[in-house]
Amino acid sequence: MKIMVVGGGGREHTIIKKLKENKEVSEIFALPGNGGMANDATCVNIGAKDIDAIVKFAVENKIDYAVVAPDDPLVLGCVDALEEQGIACFGPRANAAIIEGSKVFSKNLMKKYGIPTAAYEVFDDMEKALAYLESAPIPTVIKADGLALGKGVIIAETLDDARAAVVSMMQDKQFGASGDHIVIEEFLTGPEVSVLAFTDGKTVKPMVSSMDHKRAGDGDTGLNTGGMGTVAPNPYYTAEIADECMRTIFLPTVDAMNAEGRSFKGCLYFGLMLTPNGPKVIEYNCRFGDPETQVVLPLLESDLLTVMQATTNGTLAETEVKFSGKNACCVIMASKGYPSSYEKGFEMTIPEDIASSVYVAGASLSDGKLLTNGGRVLGVTSIDETLEGAIEKSYAKVGRISFENAYFRRDIGKRALAAYKE
Ligand code: AMP
Ligand code: GLY
Repeated sequence: MKIMVVGGGGREHTIIKKLKENKEVSEIFALPGNGGMANDATCVNIGAKDIDAIVKFAVENKIDYAVVAPDDPLVLGCVDALEEQGIACFGPRANAAIIEGSKVFSKNLMKKYGIPTAAYEVFDDMEKALAYLESAPIPTVIKADGLALGKGVIIAETLDDARAAVVSMMQDKQFGASGDHIVIEEFLTGPEVSVLAFTDGKTVKPMVSSMDHKRAGDGDTGLNTGGMGTVAPNPYYTAEIADECMRTIFLPTVDAMNAEGRSFKGCLYFGLMLTPNGPKVIEYNCRFGDPETQVVLPLLESDLLTVMQATTNGTLAETEVKFSGKNACCVIMASKGYPSSYEKGFEMTIPEDIASSVYVAGASLSDGKLLTNGGRVLGVTSIDETLEGAIEKSYAKVGRISFENAYFRRDIGKRALAAYKE
């Protein structure tokens, strides 16, 4: 079978390595992929947002199955365009990817169907938004409507910060057209949990839970990033809470999408906060999380391709989705300066014996040398019976990978470890 994976980061590298475990897979193309995954896939220089070129490539190369991993192509209708050409895909169509593509859509969906989330108001007029803030509880959370690379969320600790955030989004267009509509919502507290779930639009099979570390610095300080590390499972996510989430959030969300005529197939990502008033949805993503995927998929014992195909064919109910009971930890090695400005082009060395634990996010190949080529450069994942063991193993491997200006957090998993002792 010929497989195509759209995307080029650590998440895609993880998906590709997992797909390769299926003996029927003869070739995997990554569009565009990156130099660090050249041993695992044939990288093709087509950008993940170039839908026309992606479809043309898939048709010309007789691709049997396409996995569309990032949010942008999903929201742009990559799955729709591929399916029109008869190519089976993993991922939602555009009319369902809107669950991530528009925060206004997802908030209104949750309100309409009684799915627990932070209380909110939507604004398309700056003066009205500013007037609302005068009596809003502080801290407050301000979100730009569209995709903003995870940066369109501002938690304002003071009224002045809140006003400034509204002006920067709606007047200065800090996030472009995403700021035409904004959501102002209640500030929630509690541990955060990421739950990725396979769904074929009828059945929901959640994957092992995970915990992201979004801030750049140790102790959850500094700027928000795409994620500096993850652990799975998430200790706060007990079996009891999982049952409650299935009942009050996961199934109602899939049902709500069906009722709206927007059946969702693929991986639905629930960003949850376990508040004193129960689990609530912070955000939906229409795709695998990054770097959640780097800890979740290595724990998957079932065949990934089979499960993905079941979401496409509507046979997920009969398909086993089994995870090992072990722990995983992924530490992201980034370029110093990320998520702000950073230098790239430094040579890196990844010892052969640990290459299978490394998921490369940002690298290029030049004259056979692997060079850093992004903010997040790679992730190192380890699995162990205990979380402590997984963390130790990952940091030992990180210590053996070197490139100039490498930066990583030194406390990935620390909060999870403390939670087990609470
Ligand atoms: P998002 O891009 O929607 O995942 O938001 C980024 C981060 O902002 C989340 O991971 C949360 O830590 C935080 N956040 C978003 N919404 C809220 C909220 N209503 N209350 C508290 N924190 C929030
Ligand atoms: N790690 C968060 C995300 O993928 O959106």
